[in-house]
Amino acid sequence: MHNKRLLIAFATLLLSTSIMAQPAPQLNAGNIDEVLKAMTLEEKAQLLVGDGNDGFIGSGAMLGHQAKLVAGAAGQTVAIKRLGIPATVVSDGPAGIHIDPIRKGTSQTFYATGFPIGTCLASTWNPQLVYQVGRAMGEEGLEYGVDVILGPGMNIQRNPLGGRNFEYYSEDPLLNGTIGAAMVNGIQSMGIGTSPKHFAVNSQETDRTRVDERVSQRALREIYLRGFEKMVREAQPWTVMSSYNKINGVYSQGNHDLLTTVLRDEWGFKGIVMTDWIGERDDLPVADEVHAGNDLMMPGYPVQTKDIIDGVKSGKIDIKDVDRNVRKMLEYIVKTPSYRKYKFTNNPDLKGHAAVTRQTSAEGMVLLQNRGGVLPIRNLKTVALFGVNSYDFLSGGLGSGCVNVPYVVDMVQGLKNIGVSTTPALTDIYEKYVPYAKAKLAADKNPEMWFLNQGQPKLDEIDITDRLTRHEAQQADAAIITLGRQSGEGIDREVSEFNITEKEREMISHVSDIFHSQGKPVIVVLNSGWSMETASWRDRVDAILVAWEPGEEGGNSVADVLTGKVCPSGHLTATWPVSIGDDPSTANFPQQPDYYGLTDKFARGALKGVNYSNHDEDIYVGYRYYDTFHKTVAYPFGFGLSYTTFAFSGLKVKKQGNDVVVSVNVKNTGRTAGKQVAQVYVTAPKGNLEKPAKELKAFAKTKELRPGQSETLTMTIPVRDLASFDSADSQWIVEPGKYAFLVGDNVENIAEVTGLTLDKYTEKVNNALPLKASLNLLHR
Ligand code: BGC
Repeated sequence: MHNKRLLIAFATLLLSTSIMAQPAPQLNAGNIDEVLKAMTLEEKAQLLVGDGNDGFIGSGAMLGHQAKLVAGAAGQTVAIKRLGIPATVVSDGPAGIHIDPIRKGTSQTFYATGFPIGTCLASTWNPQLVYQVGRAMGEEGLEYGVDVILGPGMNIQRNPLGGRNFEYYSEDPLLNGTIGAAMVNGIQSMGIGTSPKHFAVNSQETDRTRVDERVSQRALREIYLRGFEKMVREAQPWTVMSSYNKINGVYSQGNHDLLTTVLRDEWGFKGIVMTDWIGERDDLPVADEVHAGNDLMMPGYPVQTKDIIDGVKSGKIDIKDVDRNVRKMLEYIVKTPSYRKYKFTNNPDLKGHAAVTRQTSAEGMVLLQNRGGVLPIRNLKTVALFGVNSYDFLSGGLGSGCVNVPYVVDMVQGLKNIGVSTTPALTDIYEKYVPYAKAKLAADKNPEMWFLNQGQPKLDEIDITDRLTRHEAQQADAAIITLGRQSGEGIDREVSEFNITEKEREMISHVSDIFHSQGKPVIVVLNSGWSMETASWRDRVDAILVAWEPGEEGGNSVADVLTGKVCPSGHLTATWPVSIGDDPSTANFPQQPDYYGLTDKFARGALKGVNYSNHDEDIYVGYRYYDTFHKTVAYPFGFGLSYTTFAFSGLKVKKQGNDVVVSVNVKNTGRTAGKQVAQVYVTAPKGNLEKPAKELKAFAKTKELRPGQSETLTMTIPVRDLASFDSADSQWIVEPGKYAFLVGDNVENIAEVTGLTLDKYTEKVNNALPLKASLNLLHR
């Protein structure tokens, strides 16, 4: 007996020394299983938690700055040298690479191109162009040593007050998914990864790390998940970022239904899921996150690593789940530039990308009004520029989505660059006022606001006297008034920011009266990341151009459009309501009375004990509501004017295999070269499920058509894209009958209609993400 024991001990010793003596495998794409086998539990746990401990949890949760390898990047993963596993770097964000532009010990700068915000990109309705922006952004990430860009932002713009709407694309899932896929494909074509975010239903900022989004399975499937689904199927991002919020009572980052059943089992997602930037949660065990398929905890705190180790040891975490996630991490790592030891230059093609952003932002701008064809002003020589944002031009939003840009071309510079001057007296007044007002704001700054990098509230307008305005009207060919609105991460907008201020209203009236009395046009440029109230003042002015927050070349792009160098072809990707109260989600969307202080704003949900948002509007988000229930809007979904006119003709629809193929002819019937978007809406026949009046099912943009020139656009709609979600049977269903296919240039302006009879089609899926039975939403 004694001898036997000795023998076993000796054999065990031999075995372990031979394991120790074996050189550790070095990671490559072909030996992932071997590396996994060689990893200790500690190493596995480390790989599932980001390398982000800066000792200050708060900073991580709001704005990532954790990476040590690339200063200012949002975070990085842990290196395990023994196994040849390098650290990888992830960086924000949707409008360009967010890194520190200046570093200690070098005079070299590391600025990144400020591309147009998400809403502006989507307003191009041009996925090919967005793909090019993605390539440019990808090249910049690659050359700055970044492995994954934390974007695109793909949440649905549920309500005009959404604080991060500017980072997102649309209220419509098809547009969202198509533009999202183009961006992911563009970035990833450069050999770096993406992290489409925030999966899912992160359409509000108030209480964003805790709010419970209560939403029916149908609305989830048809609205909030569908864009992500399209993007995943068409572009296979390397990573996806789970959102901070809960969905139907379960945190996204610990939601097995969301991250495994739907994302992986149903959609075939192959990459990793990382959390948004939050530390350990008191009310979500790390075991749930690991099991759910949330592979990587970002920015990452040592306590999370410990929790994983302890969880496995105590049996709360299944080692199989850990191994599954670690395998995914290894599969991700071998694809990265860091793994390839890519020698980045820190010298991306900033000049080339400036040209890309100038073209894209001009194409994303939307012309809302052009009375009497005042635009373009071809012989524009001198302009009187009103409004502080003409001089303090907003190129992008705030928070993690802000980019440290090398410069911003404002309106004065943009006009100057094409030979248009601004009236000296007015320019001088504003150019002195803006730095003064900004310095004052900085001096009065609210520390909490700066903590969040939200330090740019709107500068007050200054009073310009009648006498000066009259003088300006004599000097200038036209008046341009720029109205700006900033927004950013962590705070939803206030109703007062959607509306125009009294000072702005006075300025519009006063400038319009005086300029019009001298026969000179008044043009309003909206420099805002999201919609604004227009119905109450638009009659006073001649033209309105939505410039969005168009990136660093913004002033050049505005000048290109105003003077006709570029013919506008942008279209709204969300409805612009007459008033905020009209929106079907407003009743359940945070409204923060402005007399509350900032602290109260953040805590609003908690103070009121309301940390949920009921989606009573269900699938009737945006135009699906306004159009179905015949509500008047300021500008409908898809709206956008041009300097020329177009005619649609010859709409044809046929079934081809599992697809419906739609073709339509577009002719430029006007006198200026331009591009047009054909928007294909579908009205379903009456069936068992109620349906919106119309839904966007395809779109395409022409090339630039000369006057008289035509192009036939052909679009393919997979039949499954026509399906509605039947929660009772957990299935997608195309109910049989005659479908109407409508083509127009916005949801209310339909030019051609034709019908096609379709058979029943169903596709069974899982009964995932159920709403609590006790909840009675208005629709479900
Ligand atoms: C934001 C993410 C961002 C991350 C890293 C979070 O607060 O919600 O969008 O990617 O910070 O900066």
